[in-house]
Amino acid sequence: MKKELSFFETVEKRRSVRSFSKKSIEKSKIQKILRTAWMSPSAMGMQNFKIFVVEEQKKKEKLVKATHDQEYVNSSLVLVFCTDPKRIKFMGNRGKQLFSVQDATIAASYSQLAATALGLSSVWVGHFNEKAVAEIIKTKLRPVVVLPIGYANEKPKAKKNQKMKDLIKKT
Ligand SMILES: Cc1cc2nc3c(=O)[nH]c(=O)nc-3n(C[C@H](O)[C@H](O)[C@H](O)COP(=O)(O)O)c2cc1C
Repeated sequence: MKKELSFFETVEKRRSVRSFSKKSIEKSKIQKILRTAWMSPSAMGMQNFKIFVVEEQKKKEKLVKATHDQEYVNSSLVLVFCTDPKRIKFMGNRGKQLFSVQDATIAASYSQLAATALGLSSVWVGHFNEKAVAEIIKTKLRPVVVLPIGYANEKPKAKKNQKMKDLIKKT
């Protein structure tokens, strides 16, 4: 097995990939990705999210449709991150609505980085029909991120970021 990337190597290396090989992902790598998500920070440590692991072919094909025909959602492994605000009992709607979304998206972000560190690739998919995705994974929870993961079949083009100085302001 190739060596795992360091944190800063991982951050530089992580790019959205939209073409994956059919190669399946080792169980140990899936476990590491899920453990990384589980270790992520969350509001009051309440972990107001749930991760649905999708490996079944039929469900992945349905997820392609529910994500408006984003074909790469049919990758070896798809994780669906949902908010699960039942444990959060403070700050009213801010807790229920905002923190649960933040918890779920942080967990997704950690998962993307873990996948990269393990030599895998992914793409964050936010453009989807929430109701359709929830039905496919059989939940009443709100899906906020669909994350296809797999071995890359393409090399991403150079990144076109905004200038750092335009995004960071001293105040
Ligand atoms: C909130 C969010 C929603 C996104 N939704 C989609 C999507 O539906 N489909 C897609 O192909 N990429 C999606 N992306 C990926 C972005 O297009 C990508 O991160 C961006 O172009 C920067 O490229 P990079 O990830 O290679 O750095 C999304 C990313 C974020 C953070």
